[in-house]
Amino acid sequence: MVLSTKLLLLITGLAPPALGALFNGPSQFSKRSYDYVIVGGGTAGNVVASRLTEDPRISVLVLEAGISHENVTDSEIPLFCASLTPNTRYDWNYTTVAQPQYNNRTIPYARGRMLGGSSSVNYNVFMRGSSGDWNRYADVTSDAGWNWANMQKYILRNEQITPPADGHNTSGQYIPSHHGTSGNLRISLPGYPTPLDSRVLATLEEQKNEFPFNPDMGGGDVLGIGWMPSSIGHGQRSSSATAFLEPALRRRNLDVVINAHVTRLLRTGTVRGRPSFHCLEFTERPGARVQSVCATKEIVLSAGSVSTPILLQRSGYGDRNQLRAAGIQTIVHNPSVGRNLSDHPLLTNAFTVKGNGSFDELFRDQTLMDAALGQWNANRTGPLVSGVASQLGWLRLPNNASIFKDFEDPASGPRSAHWEIILNNFWAVPGIPRPDTGNFVTITTALISPTSRGYLTISSADPFAAPIIDPNFLSSRFDFFVLIEAVKAVKRFASGKAWADYIDGPYGDFARTNTDEEIEAYVRANAASIYHPVGTASMSPRGASWGVVDPDLKVKGVEGLRIVDGSVLPYVTNAPTQGPIYLVGERGADLIKADQ
Ligand SMILES: Cc1cc2nc3c(=O)[nH]c(=O)nc-3n(C[C@H](O)[C@H](O)[C@H](O)COP(=O)(O)OP(=O)(O)OC[C@H]3O[C@@H](n4cnc5c(N)ncnc54)[C@H](O)[C@@H]3O)c2cc1C
Ligand SMILES: *[C@@H]1O[C@H](CO)[C@@H](O)[C@H](O)[C@H]1NC(C)=O
Ligand SMILES: *[C@@H]1O[C@H](CO)[C@@H](O)[C@H](O)[C@H]1NC(C)=O
Ligand SMILES: *[C@@H]1O[C@H](CO)[C@@H](O)[C@H](O)[C@H]1NC(C)=O
Ligand SMILES: *[C@@H]1O[C@H](CO)[C@@H](O)[C@H](O)[C@H]1NC(C)=O
Ligand SMILES: *[C@@H]1O[C@H](CO)[C@@H](O)[C@H](O)[C@H]1NC(C)=O
Ligand SMILES: *[C@@H]1O[C@H](CO)[C@@H](O)[C@H](O)[C@H]1NC(C)=O
Ligand SMILES: *[C@@H]1O[C@H](CO)[C@@H](O)[C@H](O)[C@H]1NC(C)=O
Ligand SMILES: *[C@@H]1O[C@H](CO)[C@@H](O)[C@H](O)[C@H]1NC(C)=O
Repeated sequence: MVLSTKLLLLITGLAPPALGALFNGPSQFSKRSYDYVIVGGGTAGNVVASRLTEDPRISVLVLEAGISHENVTDSEIPLFCASLTPNTRYDWNYTTVAQPQYNNRTIPYARGRMLGGSSSVNYNVFMRGSSGDWNRYADVTSDAGWNWANMQKYILRNEQITPPADGHNTSGQYIPSHHGTSGNLRISLPGYPTPLDSRVLATLEEQKNEFPFNPDMGGGDVLGIGWMPSSIGHGQRSSSATAFLEPALRRRNLDVVINAHVTRLLRTGTVRGRPSFHCLEFTERPGARVQSVCATKEIVLSAGSVSTPILLQRSGYGDRNQLRAAGIQTIVHNPSVGRNLSDHPLLTNAFTVKGNGSFDELFRDQTLMDAALGQWNANRTGPLVSGVASQLGWLRLPNNASIFKDFEDPASGPRSAHWEIILNNFWAVPGIPRPDTGNFVTITTALISPTSRGYLTISSADPFAAPIIDPNFLSSRFDFFVLIEAVKAVKRFASGKAWADYIDGPYGDFARTNTDEEIEAYVRANAASIYHPVGTASMSPRGASWGVVDPDLKVKGVEGLRIVDGSVLPYVTNAPTQGPIYLVGERGADLIKADQ
């Protein structure tokens, strides 16, 4: 409610300029200088804003292209998460180029466009990756500060584990010592029971060699299947907007402008022989007045894995050939900008089930939905507090898998996964509407150790033109091999005794996957993205011939710019990416403070 008070003050013209404020658009805003200007009020950007403004002497401005998260009920209600994207007013509406290994299909590439960024539109799954992921970041960057042991303090600072919405006894469902209790972001275990719960647990017991129970994936060892933590607290979404920005807006030294699209960073001179960028331009929409603002200390780019490299390119920092093609003059030639995109390909596998305990009826039957909404409005309980799943898991190929004759293991360590399994209590197939009848369980899989790398780039000098995005999914045999083996493993999981009275059989294309060739055809026709791109403005060691930022997140070869968002992570994680990116935000803020 902090935001609404501020809005009210603004509307009634009572907001004294010395107070932190939320401005509804560039036209209401006229200040010209701050210590720090943060581009993007998203997942990591709001963490940086919150940590920097802990010091009352430091002034911070956040510029966010999207709208406010406030009163967006679909974002608050956990079970409505899938309605927020793609192609809505909360999305950037990006699309990939035709993917050759996906039968030349183009797929949507959702990115949140509102306060909280993608943390306001994502599916709430919350993890932080494996210890191997972070130790590999430390190795690749030659900076031990990124290793798993050092990241523990940021985990504790970031997280506040809370009771599940239904108040059930969570003993045995997580290990308390792996979690923070006094951080900003509220995390909880599933808050509403499903017909899958007991069946999953029975299968883990019955097939424990292949599918072991993991009592908590937050401790660095992700392998196995267990209870899913979500960024949900007291039955509603906890995002970087609710958990970080709202409290920080109570401070006098933070201003936020929404509907403010940053179009270009401005070169302001030369410092220590390097081009410096201390100012930038922004506007509300194409054709509207362009305004500028400057940072006396630094500009922090937190626009995410798609927009951050795009903004660098528009500002003359990137591969000179790509910049020339777009009609932009090169200030710094760096061919790594937009390269090395690493993402998790997604493959959902739907089964029809007996009974009416899946959430499919709820989505179809307005009377049931009205009752559920009434309950959620009354006290934040009931089916709508459910995340996308209550159990998920992280699994490896067997060590003797034939593919290892030709490929070195790309996993980030011996206790890191090749693929992921998610148990959805409803129809969760992207791009195909829920059938009019039937109840479903979707056993979703994702490739976690991709060897394919993609790229993205500007298509023109127009700051509102959509970028070219090519994740280059499944361009290596290793990646195909893992997804084919994952489909077979899903069938073994679903053949467990506990499912005999529940699952009727595989649905749709999935029913025609008996041979490896058929599975491969099914993958090509149905795989998508789980929306975890990273690596497009990667960290690398100081002085390396590749990479976009040094391990302290300063942009190479220039002064005044830092990047704090998912684009700096060189490899995608053994986790959905929000948790790791919150940690990038926490350490990024520490690195900035260390320089003050
Ligand atoms: C549909 C979907 C589901 C997902 N599900 C999960 C999940 O369940 N669990 C999980 O861990 N991860 C999930 N992810 C991924 C995760 O949410 C993201 O990786 C993470 O939130 C990205 O954080 P970020 O700080 O890098 O960027 P973002 O949070 O995307 O923030 C970037 C911000 O910058 C703003 N911006 C961009 N360009 C400009 C500009 N030019 N001017 C001004 N502002 C700009 C954007 O509007 C946005 O607010 C999902 C993502 C999506 C899209
Ligand atoms: C959100 O709703 C509250 C209560 O109805 C209202 O006071 C506030 O102005 C709304 N905020 C926005 C951004 O619409
Ligand atoms: C995305 O598409 C929706 C629906 O058409 C539209 O309302 C929204 O403005 C679009 N977003 C952008 C950034 O163009
Ligand atoms: C995809 O498009 C390319 C280029 O147009 C073409 O060569 C190829 O045959 C197409 N592949 C499929 C599976 O249609
Ligand atoms: C929760 O369950 C555990 C294990 O069954 C038990 O020891 C503990 O007392 C229970 N806690 C409460 C508050 O009931
Ligand atoms: C991509 O990343 C690898 C390290 O993983 C690095 O060797 C390579 O140079 C990078 N490519 C570009 C274009 O930055
Ligand atoms: C499910 O079926 C039972 C028994 O047929 C019925 O009582 C109940 O109302 C149904 N529930 C839903 C959500 O349709
Ligand atoms: C929440 O409200 C519902 C009715 O809407 C009621 O049945 C339920 O008991 C309430 N739960 C709690 C914990 O208050
Ligand atoms: C791998 O080893 C298992 C038993 O240890 C065996 O059943 C399986 O056939 C082996 N697979 C391959 C590809 O060699």
